[in-house]
Amino acid sequence: MRKTDILVIGSGIGGLTFAIKMAKKRPDLDIMVLTKTNRDESNTRYAQGGVAAVWDKEVDSYDKHIEDTLDAGDGLCDNEIVRIVVEEGPVRVQEIINWGTRFDKGKDADYDLGMEGGHSENRILHFKDLTGWEIQRALLAAVSELKNVTIHDHYFALDLISQHHLGRVVTRMTPNLECYGAYVIDLEKNKIETIAARITVVATGGAGQIYKATTNPTIATGDGIAMMYRMKGRLANMEFVQFHPTSLFNPAGENPSFLISEAVRGFGAILKSKEGERFMKKYDERGSLAPRDIVARAIDNEMKMRGDDFVCLDCTHLDQEGFLNHFPTIYEKCKSLGIDPFKDMIPVVPAAHYICGGINTNEMGATSVLNLYACGECTCSGLHGANRLASNSLLEAMVFAHRIHEEVGARIDQVKINDNVPEWNAKGTSEPKEMVLITQSLKELKEILSSYVGIVRSNVRLKRAQDRLWLLYNETEKLYTTSVISPQLCELRNLITIGHLVTTSAAMRKESRGLHFTTDYPDKQGFLDNTYM
Ligand code: FAD
Ligand code: SIN
Repeated sequence: MRKTDILVIGSGIGGLTFAIKMAKKRPDLDIMVLTKTNRDESNTRYAQGGVAAVWDKEVDSYDKHIEDTLDAGDGLCDNEIVRIVVEEGPVRVQEIINWGTRFDKGKDADYDLGMEGGHSENRILHFKDLTGWEIQRALLAAVSELKNVTIHDHYFALDLISQHHLGRVVTRMTPNLECYGAYVIDLEKNKIETIAARITVVATGGAGQIYKATTNPTIATGDGIAMMYRMKGRLANMEFVQFHPTSLFNPAGENPSFLISEAVRGFGAILKSKEGERFMKKYDERGSLAPRDIVARAIDNEMKMRGDDFVCLDCTHLDQEGFLNHFPTIYEKCKSLGIDPFKDMIPVVPAAHYICGGINTNEMGATSVLNLYACGECTCSGLHGANRLASNSLLEAMVFAHRIHEEVGARIDQVKINDNVPEWNAKGTSEPKEMVLITQSLKELKEILSSYVGIVRSNVRLKRAQDRLWLLYNETEKLYTTSVISPQLCELRNLITIGHLVTTSAAMRKESRGLHFTTDYPDKQGFLDNTYM
């Protein structure tokens, strides 16, 4: 068994921000960061638009950012959490600037603040269209200076350890669940290790890979959320999956789908049909810059009504120099597919982008399980409610990473390692002979979720999805109990769990709200608490 003071699972903005702060606060503690592929592969790396923060207080205010977040969240945000994130956000942004993150400046040497859907003011700090790449770079550079943090690449966390592994029967009603660390696969040695930790922080990111078309990289398989579910910890709001309205339509298919940032619409691009007709004002007076749930649903409807495979984003009227300065990567990507954004309209389609639900956390990032904390996209902190406001997620991850480091700093001296954690039991398993069983099930899962649990849902579709997922679940559990564990099998199992949670939560919500729209209940109803105990 390997021991560490603090185990961090994930090297995106959530995991790294926490690790840097904790390591600086307590140089006496050993901090281990796990990442399942390379340390720079994460949803964070792909963030384009930027970080929303109240920066120019002469024009903007906390109240405005709070109101925009609540408005997008459609009645399900936690007001206190929204206030905390908005008010603490600018200080956290300044910290990552101090650690070396660059954001673009305008002509007057102040930060160039961008506009995105649902925001009432320009408040998006960005680095060209590569904001996430720049943040990831700066955080990795900062962490490399710290002697008490070790990043372990190609370490795959397969389960969180709790009383269940000590032989106790644990249910969702069991009080005082505790986390003792995690079982992980060292992928280079192909060996399962037991890592015992005093404190564990889950920062495993999103789950977009349950869908066929997603902007999320292939690592986004919801592992942290699924591990928490198996551990019988509390999750919430899993029905709220955000589809980004504008991923680049690529007939050849691409995983992940390439994002055309909302900042492009913030810069003045307009959504049109293939024939060049503007359609957004029919759906919302804010037009192309309405919140994402509204725009994605409008595009979905237009595509279905017109029988088209995509709609278009018209950039042909925009200032070319400004466009090239702001969006060099998007420009190059379009050109590589033969699209000239200054002459041709860019074909776009919605794609799964962000999961608003996840591990239920409190105002300090604590979960329902003792000594287990979580931050970033794997959580449901109460910030996003039924629909996330653009560019609020990088901010949320930083604010909660900070809060967790404060709480852990105050508590860790009272927490001991559990020395009785057993090693992983691989008895009775053999090498899986047919990879096709895993790859085909993955395709089926994506097909089910995309066809029946997408932007528009209905009772019949959800029931169909539930029935088919049940079959996939049973087949995969059988494979899991008889096969030597592999990351592919673990990811499939996690994705099926996430698919089940999204579908079941959607079936429970008998109303339409935010990102959840069902033709059977098209209106908003009363409050429903979709928390799993
Ligand atoms: P991630 O950055 O996804 O990091 C997850 C980490 O966990 C990775 O290191 C991964 O290897 C590790 N991990 C996962 N499972 C395991 C496991 N089983 N074992 C070990 N390690 C594991 N948000 C904004 O606010 N502004 C934007 O402009 C923006 N643009 C976006 C553009 C794109 C294309 C995408 C996909 C997302 C965008 N988002 C944006 C959302 C935002 O990037 C993410 O929500 C945020 O970066 C998540 O950070 P995180 O630290 O929670 O997780
Ligand atoms: C984008 O650049 O459009 C993505 C912003 C976000 O997801 O917050």
